[in-house]
Amino acid sequence: MPSLAEWMRGCDLARLEAQVLVETVQGWSRATQAAHPERELDASALERLNALAARLRSGEPLAYVLRQREFYGLEFEVTPDVLIPRPDTELLVDLALRHLDDLPEPRHPTVLDMGTGSGAIAIAIAHARPKARVWALDTSATALAVARANAARLLDPHREGGAVNFQQTDWWRGLQLPTAFACFDCVVSNPPYIAANDPHLSDLRHEPSLALTGQHPTADGLSDLRQIVAEAAPHLREDGRLLLEHGYDQAAAVRDLLIAHGFREVFSARDLAGIERVSGGFCPQQRAHTMPPKMA
Ligand SMILES: C[S@@+](CC[C@H](N)C(=O)[O-])C[C@H]1O[C@@H](n2cnc3c(N)ncnc32)[C@H](O)[C@@H]1O
Repeated sequence: MPSLAEWMRGCDLARLEAQVLVETVQGWSRATQAAHPERELDASALERLNALAARLRSGEPLAYVLRQREFYGLEFEVTPDVLIPRPDTELLVDLALRHLDDLPEPRHPTVLDMGTGSGAIAIAIAHARPKARVWALDTSATALAVARANAARLLDPHREGGAVNFQQTDWWRGLQLPTAFACFDCVVSNPPYIAANDPHLSDLRHEPSLALTGQHPTADGLSDLRQIVAEAAPHLREDGRLLLEHGYDQAAAVRDLLIAHGFREVFSARDLAGIERVSGGFCPQQRAHTMPPKMA
């Protein structure tokens, strides 16, 4: 059997990727690998390492190869049915948690995550704020299955806010809420926002197009953001906030959209790279605080 050092030299992968594979498959930490490059790999580990390395060399993302990705300190299962959660999206979670903490009265805050994918945002919020009652929707049944499995594994079954309520909808269409429901304190979404002709789409070919460009790709990538904003107000409490992730060049357009729909204190927040990544606002003031009629 080859030694670790020999396999690393021949595998033709970035060093970090190769180390992560060895850590996952052979169970040797990176410190152990650095200290003992002479160790021999097991025959079964070698076969698996070579198979996984071939997938990485073909361009498949590490998260799909390992079926996992860390987000907000939690280890999520990811499959090709869901977008790989991005570090940028942690900003959306930070802003949502800050808003929940600013709410005036002690209550079980209510949160809706639209387009939940792996469940990353909804589950991170539910994990960080055990009292919050969290809903999460997606149009993809296969994504929802991944999200439900992540919630079952990552959340305390006895959390005060109860289980995350996952639903299959077309954005607001088909969302089922309890009759006496008093609207959401916070609606968050990282929807598909990539324009149909974006040259970077080919780099993302392993991820589901439904998560990247949506069901109806448009030239500006804003069609899903428009649908979410257009019907958000009746679902928000008076002091409720809508928070939306968007593309690096879409902040001004999303702010305009929010302002056009009457949202107050519209803002954009920058991610760690200094890019305006999340925009949001408070619920429009003059609106009837009744639930909209049930949508089919
Ligand atoms: C960019 S991904 C975000 C996934 C996850 N929230 C995250 O941040 O990692 C967008 C998600 O929106 C879902 N989606 C696309 N069109 C939808 C629609 N019409 N109604 C509900 N969800 C939709 C996709 O299936 C996908 O899971």
